[in-house]
Amino acid sequence: MLILGIESSCDDTSVAIVEDGRKVLSNIVASQDEYHRRFGGVVPEIAARKHLEHILPTIHHAMDLAGTHWQDIDAVAVTHRPGLVGSLIVGLTAAKSLALTFQKPLIGIHHLEAHAYASCFAGMAYGTPHIALVASGGHSSLLNIQAGEMLMIGRTVDDAAGEAFDKIAKFMGLGYPGGPIIDRLAAEGNSEIKRFPRPMINHDNFNFSFSGLKTAVIYYLNAHPDTPPRDVAAAFQEAVVDVLITKTIRAARKFKMNTVSVVGGVAANSGLRQECLRRCLNHDIQVFIPDIQYCTDNAAMVAGLGYQKMLQNDLSGMSLEVFPQAGLQIIST
Ligand code: KG4
Ligand code: ZN
Repeated sequence: MLILGIESSCDDTSVAIVEDGRKVLSNIVASQDEYHRRFGGVVPEIAARKHLEHILPTIHHAMDLAGTHWQDIDAVAVTHRPGLVGSLIVGLTAAKSLALTFQKPLIGIHHLEAHAYASCFAGMAYGTPHIALVASGGHSSLLNIQAGEMLMIGRTVDDAAGEAFDKIAKFMGLGYPGGPIIDRLAAEGNSEIKRFPRPMINHDNFNFSFSGLKTAVIYYLNAHPDTPPRDVAAAFQEAVVDVLITKTIRAARKFKMNTVSVVGGVAANSGLRQECLRRCLNHDIQVFIPDIQYCTDNAAMVAGLGYQKMLQNDLSGMSLEVFPQAGLQIIST
């Protein structure tokens, strides 16, 4: 079965063709980084306008690369929540137009569930009960996924993890997006210059907070302006990674899960990947972390999950709408 997936919830326009939920025939991502760089973050108005420019060429590109004809496509899957409304609308409108024109089923996809599905590209069996850490520019959430149900057990109370990387990089004048730049610098840095705070690490819940850490780093930099940026990057990254992993492992313990997945743009972080594998191994927890191309926003995860929804006959009608909020049931612990 061939599913065409469309992802446009934030600032990446992506279209993919995936066969039977696993075989990625094409996964095109049109990045908008160059348009948002000078602002140091995503500007929603610019994002929506660029999606409009990119969406049709990206669809054609994905179809061409996969060597697929419209009659071979079995369904169109599209992210419809959560995200920037103007961005989501572009993807959803394109998906509805394709579904109507070619008489294909339409499948609405939850962006966080799609991120979690990406672990299936790393070998996780679909439906495996697990704790998913979704850490990106817009989200830092812990999800409890089992029996077709996705519960939010924790989320950020202020900045998302990726947002903290981006803001620190902006403050240090390093460029945008900040995550990959800090990641590269941190690999050469010495984190022992300063132990930055690990916000909420010992709290009896699974929420995150990164705004205080960001302030601590800024204060430190103001007081010690000559510290090599690589050392600050290393100490900052170590604090973020420690909090993310500690809480993910604690959630797995609490909910008696022996599998976790780490997904979203921040899951591209080499420190997080290494440390997560090491600490999960110590706790006898199996961990799935997708290839970097499936960690950052991509439509392959949307098409892959669309296949599973198709098998379950979980289709959406033409009345499908966009929603900025995640709309998940939140269980406080
Ligand atoms: O999932 P994503 O592509 O888009 C959102 O849904 O936000 O995530 C983008 C975020 C950005 O904040 C970016 O700085 C961060 O992921 N990111 C990283 C790395 N690569 C991307 N953060 C830390 N280390 C990285 N290597
Ligand atoms: Zn995302």
